[in-house]
Amino acid sequence: MGSMQQTTAAAVGDLERYQQTRSVLPALAASLTDEDLQAQSMAEASPGKWHLGHVSWFFETMLLHGPGYQPINPQLGRVFNSYYEALGERIARSDRGLITRPSRAEVMAYREEVDRRMGARLADASAPFGELERYLFELGLNHEQQHQELFLMDILHLMSHSPLDPAAYEQEPRFATLQAPRGGWQAFEGGLVEIGDAAESFAFDNERPAHRVWLEPFDLAADLTTNGEWLAFMDDGGYARPDLWLSDGWATVQDRGWTAPLYWRREQDGGWTVMTLAGRRPVDPSAPVRHVSFYEADAFARWSGRRLPTEAEWEHAACSRPEAFSNLETEVWQWTATAYGPYPGFRPTEGTAAEYNGKFMANQMVLRGGAFATAPGHARPTYRNFFYPDQRWAFTGVRLASDSR
Ligand code: AVJ
Ligand code: FE
Repeated sequence: MGSMQQTTAAAVGDLERYQQTRSVLPALAASLTDEDLQAQSMAEASPGKWHLGHVSWFFETMLLHGPGYQPINPQLGRVFNSYYEALGERIARSDRGLITRPSRAEVMAYREEVDRRMGARLADASAPFGELERYLFELGLNHEQQHQELFLMDILHLMSHSPLDPAAYEQEPRFATLQAPRGGWQAFEGGLVEIGDAAESFAFDNERPAHRVWLEPFDLAADLTTNGEWLAFMDDGGYARPDLWLSDGWATVQDRGWTAPLYWRREQDGGWTVMTLAGRRPVDPSAPVRHVSFYEADAFARWSGRRLPTEAEWEHAACSRPEAFSNLETEVWQWTATAYGPYPGFRPTEGTAAEYNGKFMANQMVLRGGAFATAPGHARPTYRNFFYPDQRWAFTGVRLASDSR
């Protein structure tokens, strides 16, 4: 087979993957109203319409821009640039909900024009991707997948504000049947282990380089912490006992008046309900707890006489014995005790995408696994998600660990 044919075959595969990935956000938006897609429920969340535009802007900026390139609309960078200092002026994140123009229809037209130009770029056999462009293309697809999940997080947060308890979807998008609990603990002897991405396939820069870490013997829970276990923590005064909390966590509990996970509500009959993407439901005691912050996860672990795993423990366990655990990456992201920082030898992606991950490496905590709302195939055992320790609108939960006893 000649190299020409190989290039063409690869380009067809790329186009199909591009189109498949790009079809998801419009599908998730299809059943939502213009008003649903316009509103911004808090400074940390974005309007659905903004997500649709931002991911398109990312492809235009990272892949289509070059010498002599005519932008689709040079003004849109100010609206859809999220946080890239090197790419000029942008509106404040907290103002995104105030940007009513471009309209939903105009954003969709912008998406379509980006797709047309990306299609032409992918079909141009005379200019195959170089190594950096290849990486940026894969980054664009993975970035779009991240925003599919962020879109669902933000829509749920928005819907939770309505007294009508609206179901954004008839069924939770991407919901898969929970894996049955395995029960008990898995013991690991630790030692010198390797973590981080060493493979040829796509990984974010923050997963690299692979490196060795020393682990003391530890146990990791086979299952995620359940709502029933969380209710026992609440009934035992979990949210009212400062001895269980980190100082910053306790300050947050008091400041925000937390008494339960986000989206929980106590009903007249004393029972608890929870807001979901499919509307409000009774809290299922056997289901894994969702929407807890790092501070809550840490307090729960202390109350349990356990602790949160480090990210290296989690990765080592997930890589060496994946079948021993339930719901490793299909239900909720799992908080770790590890602060989000650079691996030894970390180098940000070159060029504009250098700002993608590296500059956020302070004051956040790493989460491992994956959630029901994560695009299928997006997460991997080396994947490092990260949020601030007080944030709980992501699909977050808990898997306990302890020093081996
Ligand atoms: C990894 C989910 C924290 O939300 O900013 C989106 C993902 N990076 N666009 C975030 C991301 C660039 C990131 N998180
Ligand atoms: Fe983004």
